[in-house]
Amino acid sequence: MAKDWWKQSARDIPRIVVEPPGPKSKALHASACRYFHGLSSQVKLFPVCFEEGYGITLTDVDGNKYLDFSSGIYVTSLGHSHPKISEAVAHWAKKLMNCHDFTTPVKDALLQKMAAILPGRLNAIQFYSDGTAAVEAAIRAARAITNRHEFISCFRDFHGKTLAAVSCAQMSRGDVLAYGPTRAPGFYMVPRPDPYRPTFAKADGSIDTDAYIRFYDTFIQEGTAGNVAAFVLEPAQGWGGSIFPPDDFFPKLRAYCDKKGILLYADEVLTGMARTGEWLCMSHWNVLPDIVTFGKSFGNGFPVTAMVVKEENAGALEKISASSSYGGNPMACAAALASLEVIEEEDLLENVRRVGKFFMKRLEAIKAAHPIVGDVKGKGFLLGIELVKDKATKEPFDEAGKLVYQKAFRKGLAWIPAGHILRMSPPLIMDEKYADMGLAIIDEAIAEVEKQFGYK
Ligand SMILES: Cc1ncc(COP(=O)(O)O)c(C=O)c1O
Repeated sequence: MAKDWWKQSARDIPRIVVEPPGPKSKALHASACRYFHGLSSQVKLFPVCFEEGYGITLTDVDGNKYLDFSSGIYVTSLGHSHPKISEAVAHWAKKLMNCHDFTTPVKDALLQKMAAILPGRLNAIQFYSDGTAAVEAAIRAARAITNRHEFISCFRDFHGKTLAAVSCAQMSRGDVLAYGPTRAPGFYMVPRPDPYRPTFAKADGSIDTDAYIRFYDTFIQEGTAGNVAAFVLEPAQGWGGSIFPPDDFFPKLRAYCDKKGILLYADEVLTGMARTGEWLCMSHWNVLPDIVTFGKSFGNGFPVTAMVVKEENAGALEKISASSSYGGNPMACAAALASLEVIEEEDLLENVRRVGKFFMKRLEAIKAAHPIVGDVKGKGFLLGIELVKDKATKEPFDEAGKLVYQKAFRKGLAWIPAGHILRMSPPLIMDEKYADMGLAIIDEAIAEVEKQFGYK
């Protein structure tokens, strides 16, 4: 497969033929909403209806064609309808869709591939069909490995929406969980270092990672039963707004966990499999977690996820009631295997590193040019722009966030809002030309919103 399989379809983007959401989108959305309830803010703020996706483009039912800076929601990372992946799924859809957790040739091939690419001895593997189920399995695995039952996660982390997963996550205030107990017993949350908004800072204002670790130690002694099985963390906070910790944080947390016999579980559902330019985001800091979960881009859109522990803990996986109806079905394994092969064949780790640097350079220029851009952040293709009312006070600017999101979408950019932090998750195949095109749209939308609010 030629590396530029998607370029032909991207030649005429963005192509806006009728102001979106256009009449067909409006009618279809109204029809669906008669029965479907509970949309994400990504859709509520821009209720357009898509009918086609190819490579880095999305086309709506009115014929508008968008540049994709969302990959669905960090999912179709290798481009929409990648021919190799679509063919792999179709092959097994015609041959063998499901045979519970019996071994199949394609499952074995996927397991061998994962064992070959994952670092250290992260090679005891299970498959599931959504990220949350993999997180739940990871929690059970941590309990089985340690015979302990308490978990520590971090403010503004997100890990899914079932009981254990949500107990490690922050749900927003409007959610039903905010009206009752927000987490199961034994689950605790602590602050983690956000370089733009540090909780613990040194006298010179720089972030104090040692102070975070000291706080965790005190918290464990004073606030838990002393039975902590694992720290549960996203390597970089996706939903939180593409927030990366300082480089010394994870090495220090790893050393602390080792000293205390606590597992380090990295939930790489959003960050893993090349999004930041490494198979594991944790590899940026040379830190090997004890447990890892993968999802989202793992099957490039086909629902397939994985939970992985180190070889020496493989025995614990026999104790966690592992199998599921869909986990590891042949279509799912084929999608994941083809996705991993595409990353290698199209040299996408290298592309993400190179174009990722371009993104950050351009984002820094946007920050310098705009009074409401307080911070820009990211690694590889996991990026964010934080909007503030004032660079000195750093007061979050939610209203501007919504408007910039909508204006850029109207100009032909499909992307992701998160309050005052705008998030970008472009397909990893993208080159500098389209990276620049998307950021130019955002730059323009920010300038228009600034004008609207009386800046400059
Ligand atoms: C880090 C992380 N973990 C787990 C999940 C849950 O995955 P899913 O929506 O596939 O259940 C998400 C979803 O956004 C996530 O970002």
